[in-house]
Amino acid sequence: MEATKPHIALLASPGMGHLIPVLELAKRLVSHQSFKVTVFVVATDHASIVSSQLLQSPASPDGDDLLEIVLLPLIDVSDIIGPGVSFIQQIEATMLRSVPFFRTEISKMESRPTALVVDWFGTDVLEVADEFNMLKFIFITSNAWFFAFALYTPEIDRKEIDEHAKNQKPLKIPGCRPLNFEDTTEFLLMDPNDPTYQRHIGVIIKMSLTDGILVNTWDELEPTSLKALRDARKVPIYPIGPLIRPIEKSVLRSEIIDWLDKQPEESVIYVSFGSGGTLSAQEVIELAWGLELSQQRFLWVVRPPTEKDAAGAFLTLTNGCDCNPDYLPDGFLARTHDRGLVVPMWAPQVEVLSHPSIGGFLTHCGWNSTIESITNGVPMIAWPLYAEQKMNACLLTEDIGASIRATPMESNGMVTRGDIRSMVRKILVDHEGRNIRARIKELKNSAAKALAEGGSSYNVLFQFAEICIQHLS
Ligand code: UDX
Repeated sequence: MEATKPHIALLASPGMGHLIPVLELAKRLVSHQSFKVTVFVVATDHASIVSSQLLQSPASPDGDDLLEIVLLPLIDVSDIIGPGVSFIQQIEATMLRSVPFFRTEISKMESRPTALVVDWFGTDVLEVADEFNMLKFIFITSNAWFFAFALYTPEIDRKEIDEHAKNQKPLKIPGCRPLNFEDTTEFLLMDPNDPTYQRHIGVIIKMSLTDGILVNTWDELEPTSLKALRDARKVPIYPIGPLIRPIEKSVLRSEIIDWLDKQPEESVIYVSFGSGGTLSAQEVIELAWGLELSQQRFLWVVRPPTEKDAAGAFLTLTNGCDCNPDYLPDGFLARTHDRGLVVPMWAPQVEVLSHPSIGGFLTHCGWNSTIESITNGVPMIAWPLYAEQKMNACLLTEDIGASIRATPMESNGMVTRGDIRSMVRKILVDHEGRNIRARIKELKNSAAKALAEGGSSYNVLFQFAEICIQHLS
């Protein structure tokens, strides 16, 4: 390593949706800038991280030792897990408790990092960057529109939020598409005196006081929101995406890929709800019927259904037996076995989406899934579940033109089997879907261009590097 090169520390908070893009950012900094990068991984469950093999990716493309991964000690939050404690609150508590471990690791390092990059949940750790004179950056693993909204929230007049909450008035976001009430986030509707609300606002204010924000998007995908963020001049913005995992062809051919190999080109709808998304029992039944009625080929990653209990926690509703899922309609597997594959819990998603037989993706609109679909030119059916996913679905459907949206019926909040049938047909075969199918190919090209030498995201990384280099001198 050249002595003058910066050393960047990255911190990944728990959850695949955070770890995957943080690791990709690390690899990008190594391959693009030959920076030394250390990724600190915070986890609540080491076993699943180890079994995912994500941490075993090659140290760096040229075999150098520029990329180091440090798994921080397991952080125990069992004392706060209980009714009413959300997954997000567990992550927040975990991150707060990781601060001393992170400080110890940094103080032991011979080559002290120049900059610290944390994701949304890592702002508590920024105090360590201050102590060691490191630059501070936030990596937004979602899109620019969502971030523009978040950055604006501390300034919104309460009256506007009340109008939004009570009268469903769209919320203006300066320079950006307004936020429709049906896409709003739970956070915005909270009581402003609630400590969780106040903590969120504190996190957002901290973000605006950093040296910059890296966003997993690219200029050509979100020109309006990125312009608005730059015009606001609150904090420098670096759109460096799309950062997605490369395809890692398994040494052992999987059953899924073997099955996909046998299907015609662009004939299969891939159905998956991200790293942890689940549906209710009735939604699973409607989805199964919708897939069956569509008469199209499908690959479905199924999870046992859940319902929320009175305290808002998710309860699993079945014996969870993967080999014979009792939550699917009677006879479904037998009736569809010649054109459908149902796999439990997890699929190698990037490999699946890059397979020529995939023609559509029914997705929960997690941002990683979204950009994996775009970069593979796969049109989407947007079925958002939680967090910022409704905003993502709106962006994809109304702004970008890359998806159609599953709309629940007002009477029972359900997406019906008839809707699912027609959406699947529209995205895969019907004439009506042709514009979306054409649009997604353009977006695929724009993503590749942004990352290639001379592209927008490629160039932005030089700007980020320059700031780090200046800090060294
Ligand atoms: C959540 C948010 O909703 C998302 O928008 C946010 O940016 C991060 O946290 P998550 O539910 O984890 O995300 O979904 P997503 O962002 O799509 O990430 C899931 C990752 O797991 C993707 O990289 C996907 O390829 C991978 N995955 C998921 C698989 O490889 N196989 C699966 O079966 C499911």
